[in-house]
Amino acid sequence: MSQQLFTLDFLTPPPATADAHQPADDVRVSPSTRTGRQRKLYIESYGCQMNFSDSEIVSSILFDEGFDTTENLADADLVLLNTCSIREKAEQTVRMRLSQINGHKKRHPGLLVGVLGCMAERLKSKFLEEEKLVDLVVGPDAYRDLPRLIQEVDGGQKAVNVLLSREETYADITPVRLNSNGITAFVSIMRGCDNMCSFCVVPFTRGRERSRDAHSIVQECRDLVAAGYKEVTLLGQNVDSYKWASEDGTESVNFAQLLEQVALISPELRVRFSTSHPKDITDEVLYTMARHENICKYIHLPAQSGNSRVLKLMNRTYDRPWYEERVQAIRRILGEDCAISTDMISGFCSETEEEHQDTLSLIDFSQYDMGYNFFYSERPGTLAARKLEDDIPLETKKRRLQEVIDRQQLHARARYARMVGRVHRVLVEGRSKRSEEQLSGRNSQNQVVIFPKGTAQKGDYVNVFVTSTTGAALLGEIVN
Ligand code: SAH
Ligand code: SF4
Ligand code: F3S
Repeated sequence: MSQQLFTLDFLTPPPATADAHQPADDVRVSPSTRTGRQRKLYIESYGCQMNFSDSEIVSSILFDEGFDTTENLADADLVLLNTCSIREKAEQTVRMRLSQINGHKKRHPGLLVGVLGCMAERLKSKFLEEEKLVDLVVGPDAYRDLPRLIQEVDGGQKAVNVLLSREETYADITPVRLNSNGITAFVSIMRGCDNMCSFCVVPFTRGRERSRDAHSIVQECRDLVAAGYKEVTLLGQNVDSYKWASEDGTESVNFAQLLEQVALISPELRVRFSTSHPKDITDEVLYTMARHENICKYIHLPAQSGNSRVLKLMNRTYDRPWYEERVQAIRRILGEDCAISTDMISGFCSETEEEHQDTLSLIDFSQYDMGYNFFYSERPGTLAARKLEDDIPLETKKRRLQEVIDRQQLHARARYARMVGRVHRVLVEGRSKRSEEQLSGRNSQNQVVIFPKGTAQKGDYVNVFVTSTTGAALLGEIVN
């Protein structure tokens, strides 16, 4: 292999594949800003949208400290990896990436390398022992401390801050929008998680649940509208338990009320949110969605399993009948067109073939538009790791997962097919990947719609008559 290719391999992160919406084996790289600041930050983000949003906060904090961002690792003075621990594979990806970056660092001794996010929180100072070339380890609630920590590292020391907080929401920090199309943005409304799903590492890596000041959320959304944005997605691990109260106790806002406040900013602003927890999603939220045209008719409602015994072992605190009732409430209040998506875990501890069949039958019942499906990956320190045996053979997990994916595909295709022959209001997000002459956007249900561009531009709302579907996108033409 030539030196050139070898170097390129080092400097190119693994390809980005995932949907903007969900945790995945995805990676985002900071784009370059050129404002003449002295040092350059290269930040690569893994995991879920929360991490991507946190990287925007980190960039904002470091911008004030004299760092521009760069999209080229080769130009960087500081490299940060914002990491994910959700499954073992996510951590392996980061370790592989770190060893590549460390190769680069050996040739550039002044380079500083830091690890942020969930893996930093999970492994803490062990990171410095395991990965000798890491200089900096910072957990998700300690980003305000980055300037001080970087000074320590500049002084030749290693620096760690992995303290979790009960208050930190970064409410006052205006994120630097990275990887933004200028049309759609993510707004974090809460941090942490108080649910103890037995498989999940998030409560350990992100700490206690806390809701961000409602005024700062609404203000951030207003600012986005003023800057030309047309869509916001409100983010939290469990948005339905959003609850903020003013210090003097005179004001209190729940999720349905927050949703309404954001929807009222402008009828031209689309509002989305993620993630809803089946135990907490209320009819009040569903009625609020029904009242406002601009709240998109799409709910991400992870089931994890279709079997009540497994759900109990997972500590999800709802059972199958409860979940089915929530799906029926969505259909009743928002109609059959409302899109629903799920996450499913195949091969959780002691799951039988019959219980796996229950997951398939729940997919049939719910007719999901989309599914994010995984096989179970034991995470150290979780309830399941401590109390339950990870006893389903890998081949069985993978086979069950494939059956879940195949079943989900059938419904996704059917959901796309039922949209053909109708007019959809589409927010144009940009050029289609396939052709210069085509634009791409999404309908309220979050389905991708592709059509000849005509005179429409990014950021416009257009009515598209859908004539066909590929099974993963709708194809059509603009109508008046
Ligand atoms: N707060 C969201 C989930 C965030 S994690 C919720 O409650 O639904 C995203 C998804 O990763 C989860 O929904 C789950 O399906 C999956 N996941 C989490 N831990 C996992 C594990 N140990 N193994 C496999 N998948 C896991
Ligand atoms: Fe994890 Fe459960 Fe919290 Fe979701 S609700 S982040 S799955 S503990
Ligand atoms: Fe997100 Fe991964 Fe952490 S999914 S919350 S970055 S463990």
